[in-house]
Amino acid sequence: MAQISLPANSRVTEGKTYSAPPGAKNIKRFKVYRWDPESGQNPRLDTYEVDLDTCGPMVLDALIKIKNEIDSTLTFRRSCREGICGSCAMNIDGTNTLACTKAISDIKGDVRVYPLPHMPVIKDLVPDLSHFYAQYASIRPWLRTQTPPPPDRERLQSREDRAKLDGLYECILCACCSTSCPSYWWNSDRYLGPAILLQAYRWIVDSRDEDTGTRLDELEDPFKLYRCHTIMNCAKTCPKGLNPAKAIAEIKKLLVERRF
Ligand code: SF4
Ligand code: SF4
Ligand code: FES
Repeated sequence: MAQISLPANSRVTEGKTYSAPPGAKNIKRFKVYRWDPESGQNPRLDTYEVDLDTCGPMVLDALIKIKNEIDSTLTFRRSCREGICGSCAMNIDGTNTLACTKAISDIKGDVRVYPLPHMPVIKDLVPDLSHFYAQYASIRPWLRTQTPPPPDRERLQSREDRAKLDGLYECILCACCSTSCPSYWWNSDRYLGPAILLQAYRWIVDSRDEDTGTRLDELEDPFKLYRCHTIMNCAKTCPKGLNPAKAIAEIKKLLVERRF
């Protein structure tokens, strides 16, 4: 008989509660997903009471405080703490975003923190992005040229051509968009997803690149590109305010235009 419920070992159970220190007055509860796949135990949601009077303003500040002062076993990625590296991407209060730029004060009630959805979990809030990075490598994301560079200068761009990269070069490959995309959830084995397609368009539209035809050929595929159904979750969630759906639409437009 077909099993239509979740396997018992995938259910998230209620975990431990870590109370705030006595005397704390400004308490916020953080409910954080915890799972160690090697433990053989179910995932759980641990609750940490954090004294906001002794904590920085962002969700990442609270996670660092929890790790430093309450529970050193909590595992998450972070590096720059200013929205540049993309490593602290996670699902906070139901939205994929960067923990370092998400203000605690923007969240009403308890703060629920999960890893990016629909990705294998390495531990706690750390998803396995190996496949995502392999997809990025597959578009060969560097300047591809056939002509030699000018002998006395770099390959220059006009201001207008440089402006075409605005809204694209700012992508930090955090994967918030791809992991919010239903098409990517179901077809990530073959669909490149919004982040990688935005990056692909960034090179297609670069006036200095001389491999546009091959780049378009490689994307003209029912799965790699055309699984995007313009649901727009990607643009809604991008913490850098970018619009991958628009970049995808531009690629589709170029593919149509080159037929005529
Ligand atoms: S487009 Fe936005 S959400 Fe997607 S990877 Fe780039 S920065 Fe992250
Ligand atoms: S617009 Fe396309 S890429 Fe963006 S969430 Fe929807 S299906 Fe995914
Ligand atoms: S820590 Fe680098 S983007 Fe958040």
